[in-house]
Amino acid sequence: MKVLVTGGAGYIGSTAVAMLLEQGHSVNVLDDCSTGHASSVDARADLFQESILNSQAVAGALQGVDAVLHFCAKSLVGESVTKPEIYWETNVYGTRILLDEMKKANVARLVFSSTAATYGEPREIPITENEITHPTNPYGASKLAVDYMITSQSRAYGLAAISLRYFNVAGALRSKTGWQTERHNPETHLIPNVLRASESNPLKIFGVDWPTKDGTCIRDYVHVVDLIGAHLSALEAAQPGTHEIINLGSGGGYSVNEVIAAAERVLGRKIPTEISSRRAGDPAILIADITKASKYLTWSPTLDLNQMVSDAWNSIQ
Ligand code: UFG
Repeated sequence: MKVLVTGGAGYIGSTAVAMLLEQGHSVNVLDDCSTGHASSVDARADLFQESILNSQAVAGALQGVDAVLHFCAKSLVGESVTKPEIYWETNVYGTRILLDEMKKANVARLVFSSTAATYGEPREIPITENEITHPTNPYGASKLAVDYMITSQSRAYGLAAISLRYFNVAGALRSKTGWQTERHNPETHLIPNVLRASESNPLKIFGVDWPTKDGTCIRDYVHVVDLIGAHLSALEAAQPGTHEIINLGSGGGYSVNEVIAAAERVLGRKIPTEISSRRAGDPAILIADITKASKYLTWSPTLDLNQMVSDAWNSIQ
């Protein structure tokens, strides 16, 4: 199959590119490299270094393509609060352009990167796909708007589509060409920050007074290799005229303190930390119910937190 990977120069997208190529697919990448890195894209893929807002570039990247993995997005919760317009433009209008060009080019298969941020503060843990969607920031709201847009596109024009709602993605892939690693700037995610912490730059723990067993927030971490494995299954499983929404996590949770302890085991040394105030917009606990992923995609995660931490660590050495 020939697959267009939008956002294929980013952390998760470039991992998808490498795994698609390893499975024998051919790959086009559309990425303006505003946050991703051209050097992260496997040289066997064709890179179109253009914005998703450029419809001509999108049409060019879609030539000869059978399916699209759509990762391209603005994805920082805090930034989405201070600069919401770029979230609506890139995430919603960018996807609108992609869907229009896919229709013109008769490309009728799509897997979209949605997010647990569409749920906001959940009423129940673990979170099923039937949970009410009430996003608490423009990032989650923009992704939810895209989910609605894809549902209508699917019903009206027969698009075969699956949205995968990610919980916390971590770890790294060691592909034939080297490590596909997380290279965000600024880095806001817990595991990369834990691994980079030092005496002069201790890890800030955002709150120790949450209503959890040890007072720190609990999240559901899934290895990026398992996550992309689910995308490859979703490419096959998507049915014409249907848009399925499926959570991707591990089905279990770790507190911030437990993640720090895992990193201390992997690194064999103490991680310097300092207690900081709560970060705005953080819910106390997010854990996915992954029953639907296991049934619909015949998928279950295989790599645990220790593997995520050690792969993330090895990828930055
Ligand atoms: N945390 C710290 N210190 C840090 C970084 C994070 O204590 O330096 C804490 C956070 O407060 C949170 C947990 O570690 O409790 C995980 O934080 P991340 O920033 O790694 O991940 P989030 O859960 O905030 O965000 C992830 C994705 C978002 C997505 C969200 C869905 O990165 O894109 O899950 O809820 F929107």
